[in-house]
Amino acid sequence: MRRWSGTARIHLLHPITTRSRCPHRQLSAFAQHKNILSTVSTYPDPYKLLEPQLTHLRTTLLDLLGSSHPSLTEIAKYYFLHPSKQLRPLIVLLFAQATNGVGREWVRKRWAAEVEGAKGMTEELDQPLTRPDVLNDWNPNMPDHTASFESVFSLRPSRPLPEIMVPPARPTDAHERQPTLISPTLLLPTQMRLAQIVEMIHVASLLHDDVIDKSPLRRGVASAPAAFGNKLSVLAGDFLLGRASAALSRLGDNEVVELIASVIANLVEGEILQMKEVYAPELGLIGAPRVGKEAWNIYLKKTYLKTASLMAKGARAAVVLGGSMEGEIWKEVAYAYGRNLGIAFQLIDDILDYESGEATLGKPGGADLRLGLATGPALYAWEEHAEMGPLIARKFEQEGDVELARDLVRRSSGVERTRDLARAHADKAKEVLDFLPDSDARSALEVMTERVVKRTW
Ligand code: FPP
Ligand code: MG
Repeated sequence: MRRWSGTARIHLLHPITTRSRCPHRQLSAFAQHKNILSTVSTYPDPYKLLEPQLTHLRTTLLDLLGSSHPSLTEIAKYYFLHPSKQLRPLIVLLFAQATNGVGREWVRKRWAAEVEGAKGMTEELDQPLTRPDVLNDWNPNMPDHTASFESVFSLRPSRPLPEIMVPPARPTDAHERQPTLISPTLLLPTQMRLAQIVEMIHVASLLHDDVIDKSPLRRGVASAPAAFGNKLSVLAGDFLLGRASAALSRLGDNEVVELIASVIANLVEGEILQMKEVYAPELGLIGAPRVGKEAWNIYLKKTYLKTASLMAKGARAAVVLGGSMEGEIWKEVAYAYGRNLGIAFQLIDDILDYESGEATLGKPGGADLRLGLATGPALYAWEEHAEMGPLIARKFEQEGDVELARDLVRRSSGVERTRDLARAHADKAKEVLDFLPDSDARSALEVMTERVVKRTW
């Protein structure tokens, strides 16, 4: 049984406990049987494991969003005020906890979090790199000393040179060193801030997405465009990206800046791939119907870009902030896990769009078809019902197309096959966790691979 001191445990009956410590070793039939019989084990509830941290993240995040325009602040905060699943921050923090201590740079990263002036303490992450009166000029929410529009602006003296801090030496016995998790568990301030940044980017993408999709509802309440209009929603999304970028720069890690910046580009690329009118000759996307293998390639590529990239690169960035270096396996594990979990998550999302309605999703069912999108269930149904082809090609635009497509999916194995595909990705995510040392955080990451496939939200 795994060690865990929390109160909420969940029971899993799943052959994950049959797994060998060595990912390549096959268990004998007898051993597998014996293990399956003893698989009722207790696992930590991922959300309970990190509940205080997630609550802290949610409450302090709003402090990052003050602006000179109260209405901009109000919209930027709008989606944070309704409880979110916080799935992306959860994955970031679980990976941080599951790997902190094992990376070769861990000692330096921890040092930066504990030594004043080394720029890794919580208060220091709130401090701008640029003089505050320059960074926040003309922002009434911030102390403003410039008054630059009331009088002639004069030159200010530069700040004194900061003290140069010398980090501890990197362990030289890198090859013999046994990677060991830090005990008791410890999350670095940079990793906590990364979790907030990842959520800000996610929310920014939702603000834009609800404009593109013309969604009247999000999580059962009026969407931002419905409540504030399209223009302010787009601007609020941009504002969030600006604040997220400033916070990102203060983490002091260029590799992480690069990773997260590429996620923002990926989100846009994913959205473009799924749009109706796309000019992308290299993908054959000039109004031509997407058929067969090509349709699947585009669908899965879009799924990665739109959903899995943030999970994959967010998890990888968390591990980099914990001191994982090139040549070590840890950040590769995080990336492979996030990529597979994210794809599984979106495949299930696409199934839910067929199975659920407003009561469960907070938006009407069949929304994807109405947007002209052929997701997993429709693509599989097409293999069984040729009539689906023309509907996909004309993006369900004619009267009755949406209803007919839903019926074809119902009369096919499209939903089950999409679920199988999601399960295959979730299993892959679970498998790569074998490379991590045993811990409650790793167990919680395993639980997440079960949850994404079984979820009904
Ligand atoms: C929700 O998808 C949307 C996304 C996961 C990403 C949307 C990305 C953009 C609009 C590009 C712009 C990005 C940024 C960072 C400004 P969905 O419509 O399938 O899900 P839903 O049902 O929750 O709306
Ligand atoms: Mg949408």
